[in-house]
Amino acid sequence: MADINNQIINQQAIISKGFYDIQIDPSLDLFFEIEKLKKEKNAIILAHYYQEPDIQDIADYIGDSLGLAQQAAKIKAEMIVFAGVHFMAETAKILNPHKKVLLPDLNAGCSLSDSAPPQVFKLFKDKYPDHTVITYINCSAGMKALSDIICTSSNARQIVESLPENQPIIFAPDKNLGAYINKITGRNMLLWNGACMVHEIFSLEKITKLKIRYPDAKFIAHPECEESILAIADYIGSTTGLLKYSEDSTSQTFIVATETGILHQMQKNSPNKTFIPAPPNNSCACNNCPYMKLNTLEKLYISIKYELPEIMMDEQLLNAAKKPIDKMLEISYSLGL
Ligand code: 13P
Ligand code: SF4
Repeated sequence: MADINNQIINQQAIISKGFYDIQIDPSLDLFFEIEKLKKEKNAIILAHYYQEPDIQDIADYIGDSLGLAQQAAKIKAEMIVFAGVHFMAETAKILNPHKKVLLPDLNAGCSLSDSAPPQVFKLFKDKYPDHTVITYINCSAGMKALSDIICTSSNARQIVESLPENQPIIFAPDKNLGAYINKITGRNMLLWNGACMVHEIFSLEKITKLKIRYPDAKFIAHPECEESILAIADYIGSTTGLLKYSEDSTSQTFIVATETGILHQMQKNSPNKTFIPAPPNNSCACNNCPYMKLNTLEKLYISIKYELPEIMMDEQLLNAAKKPIDKMLEISYSLGL
């Protein structure tokens, strides 16, 4: 424990001395350099759909949270560069305790994860000892360690339905996803009051106006959105679900209520279709996740080159957080998800 704490302190000291400000020769072809480093170091790049287009283009695997966890569970490479946010890289580390897992910017957190501090959640959970705790993967390792099963937006329904109907459940941290799953499964899960700042920002009024302007457009939304937004959606699904729906649908136009990064893959996979980001309720670009966008191609290059910042975890916490993730992967595998 003291050893890991010292390693974390040493890493913080290096980072605080200007690690993120390292200047890169502007004439470098970063795509070429990153490919070269990947081979030299036997590294693999995993990226979430919310990453900037350049990162998505250089990634070995792009996916939603479930796809990324499944991919991380079977990685052969020695080093994983995780282009996503902290809880995702942490999950990859939990599944690969003996591999080096890098996150280009260690400050890439998550508002949803922050809405569930483990010590506060523990007090809540202790009041309901007969409840099973299902926790959305968008949470810290500390929260995972307090959970029975993890889920993602693409398997939440099946994970909940894998439990007997009369089993009381606490669902954390996302109240919007939890309420949506309650609605479609008829369960009455106890919901933690957390939410994602990006998915709570969409304007019902502006989306309604867009739907009038584009009457043939399909309105598609991520289940982290509020109930009023989900109520008018033609399709609700994880980022992979939304992408697949946009590919399979005969519609030509889509209004998309999730983080804007996904539009890059949608446009790439369906070049002749039109994708309109659902507007936020003010004039900011708040449908961009500020945490996801902390990673850049430059930081990814620096990260793989210097093998920093690395995800480091206490072994006991890692083992406790691994159990509910393994359970999720087992259930998903058995259901062919
Ligand atoms: P999925 O990757 O499950 O679609 O969730 C989106 C998200 O908010 C990730 O932070
Ligand atoms: Fe977290 Fe929301 Fe950003 Fe996803 S989009 S990483 S849930 S803040």
